[in-house]
Parts: sequence; C-alpha cells; structure tokens
Amino acid sequence: MQRLYRKRIVLGVGGGIAAYKSAELVRRLRDHGAEVRVVMTQGGREFITPLTLQALSGHPVHLDLLDPAAEAAMGHIELARWADLVLIAPATADLMARLAQGVANDLLTTVVLATNAPVALAPAMNQAMWADPATQANREQLLSRGIRLFGPGSGSQACGDIGMGRMLEAEELARAAADCFETGMLTGKHLLITAGPTQENIDPVRYITNHSSGKMGFALAEAAAEAGARVTLVTGPVFLPTPDRVQRIDVVSARDMLAACEAAMPCDILIAAAAVADYRPEVVAPHKLKKDPSTGDGLLLQMVRNPDILATLAGRADRPFCVGFAAETENLLEYAARKLRDKNLDLIVANDVANPSIGFNSEDNAVSVIDRQQHETRFGQASKGHIARALVAFIAERYKES
Ligand code: PMT
Repeated sequence: MQRLYRKRIVLGVGGGIAAYKSAELVRRLRDHGAEVRVVMTQGGREFITPLTLQALSGHPVHLDLLDPAAEAAMGHIELARWADLVLIAPATADLMARLAQGVANDLLTTVVLATNAPVALAPAMNQAMWADPATQANREQLLSRGIRLFGPGSGSQACGDIGMGRMLEAEELARAAADCFETGMLTGKHLLITAGPTQENIDPVRYITNHSSGKMGFALAEAAAEAGARVTLVTGPVFLPTPDRVQRIDVVSARDMLAACEAAMPCDILIAAAAVADYRPEVVAPHKLKKDPSTGDGLLLQMVRNPDILATLAGRADRPFCVGFAAETENLLEYAARKLRDKNLDLIVANDVANPSIGFNSEDNAVSVIDRQQHETRFGQASKGHIARALVAFIAERYKES
C-alpha cells in the first residue's frame, strides 16, 4: 500500500548539512506515492544542487519569491494551495526562528504563511543550538500554532558533537508524513459516500448526464478512510482509481444509485457528493431514435422525476447523520439552506459551480458548510484532497456532538 498515494507534498529544503538527506527523502516520498515539489532556501542551495532535487522530484525546483518567470509557472500562492502537506527538512534554527515569528522573507517562509495545509518541520542543527532557550521557545511557539515537529533525533553529529539535533532518516520522515493524514477520528464508523454523475438513458446510445468528475466524492472517500472509517463509495460513471481501503460500488442511473445506497445501509454518516440527475426520460427507447420528419427540427422528451436519494435515506427510521452538497450558480447560501431544510439534513456543503476553478471537474474547491442553526463555516480555495480532509474533520466533530 502506498500510504502517500496522490498526496501533494511541498518539500522545503533549508541550509544545513542534513540537506544531503533531502535527496533520499524525495525518493522515499515518491516511493510512497506522493507528488513532490521542492522549494529551496538560499542556504539549502549551498549544500545540495537544485538540479539533483529536480531530477529526483521530476519537477523544476522553486527557488525565488521575486522571480517573474517562476511565479508565472507556479506562483507562491498556487504552490501553497497545491500542497496537501508542507514538509521542511532540514529545518534549521534560523528557519524555525523565522517561522515562529511569521517572517515571510523568502519563498519557503511565504509558502508556509500562505498555505492551509498542515506544516511539519524536521529540525536539524548542532545539539547546543537545539538546546538553546531561543530555539526551544521557537519550538514551543511553532507547536502552539499546530505546526508539527518530526524529531530531531539524537546521536553523533556532522560537527563531531553528540546529542539532540540530528535530522530523522528519510524513511522515518516519509512515515511521519503519512501519519499526518491518518487521524483515526472516524475509527469504527461506517461512512456511505455518493460521488460522480448519474446517466439517464434516452435510447441504447444516448443519455442525459452532467459534468461531475467524481473528484470531490472520491477525495472525501479517501479522507474518510484515512480517518479510520469503513467507507462505501457509490459512484456514477467516472474515470478515477479507487482509493485504498474503500469499497467501491459502480452504478449508472439515479435509481441504481438509490438501490446501491439502500443495500449499503445502515451507516453512521452519509455524505452525498454525487450530482444526481433530477429527471430521467419517462420511456427509454428500445432502439436508437431516428430523426422523425413529422416532428420537424425538434425532439420532445417526456421526463419524470428521479427519486431523491439523500432525502430518502434521511427519512428512514435508521437515519444516518446526513451531509448534502448543493451545487449552485446563483443565490448559493440561500438555495443551500433551503435544501438543508427540505431534505432534513444535518449539514449542507454549498459549492459555487459558476466559478470554473472550484466546481465541476476542477482540481480545487472552495465551499461553505451550513448547519441547522444557519451557521456558516467557510473553507477557502484549496485542492479537493485538502478540502475533503478539512470537511471530514469538521463532519466528524459535528457528528460526535450530535
Ligand atoms: O464531481 P466533481 O467534478 O468533483 O464536482 C463536485 C460537485 C460539484 C459535483 C460536488 O461538489 C457537488 O456539489 N455535488 C452536488 C451536486 C448537485 O447536483 O447538487 P443538487 O443541488 O442537485 O443536490 C443536492 C443534494 O441532494 C446533493 O447532495 C445530491 O447528491 C443530492 N441528490 C440530489 C438529487 C437526487 N435525485 N438525489 C440526491 O441524493
């Protein structure tokens, strides 16, 4: 199992002798399935060449904040949004101090300030520098802001000293990075998640569908599995690999999706991210429809309502904690709140699909979650993987309070 499968890791390389281990770390992270983008500080470049890390990561290394060409390719804000995790290894005493103060005077520290992703540091420095009260105060400050520290380890150091301050080995860091995604918040719970579009047949060769790619629902399934849940993912036709530890059930139409969901019940939490067709043709023609001169240039299709999967499951006696999605192009919060009420939901995730960078088939998303008290919680633009982990954590909290 690749524990970092498809995870996007920004690896920051600071200026310490342990930077030579960063090359191996890139390899280990990729072996575990991660996509890695490297950001180097000026000091980091004194110890290892960008070319080495470019060759190992398969991507150009990001070096400067004020380089117009680099910013045009993938700017610091884009890099910050792209990341599922920012891992800095080695993190020198100087880098720790700057991060503790919120200084943003180079590309790496700016990315850390700009990201919503978790940040982890692998400290590496001389034992006396590590023990210094200033470094320890910075360590406390960083921990209090939710920044994680991997290590340091103890042992003989490049300078000849023995003590705390060694950077952990690459494999230990890769495993610690994978642990960041394993929260255990939903251990023992069964989550049912719907994803993708449905297809409603018109005749044997044509159907009605929509632009859902399934990315949001699959990211939720992956995040829920990482949170320790047993996950059943019922999906319409999409071209996505099944996340690890997820039971996937493929369906085509809305009625198939309802039947698969009912068969998967009971569950503790239902998250309905699928874009289900509200209507289907009343009659599916047994043969391919031919152009009919008697109807001129038009074709009239009589449509009938599909069952509402979410409302049906929310109305059962063994009703789970129900989370819907509302994809809207106008009056987002008003329409979402109405769906929350009409479908008897616990939470609804409002998704502005008028913006192509955060809607159907996009890599990113930005959503607002509305609860029964009409409180709105906003999740700013980030990768669908990141949004999914944040949503799963939020849903787990609300589920526990319910
Ligand atoms: O798949 P992606 O390309 O990643 O895009 C993600 C997404 C935009 C599809 C997703 O984030 C999203 O917003 N999904 C809901 C889309 C939608 O069609 O919402 P709706 O407003 O029509 O439906 C409201 C809720 O009821 C949804 O939770 C939907 O799954 C559910 N529903 C709707 C109709 C129906 N017959 N049965 C349902 O269960």
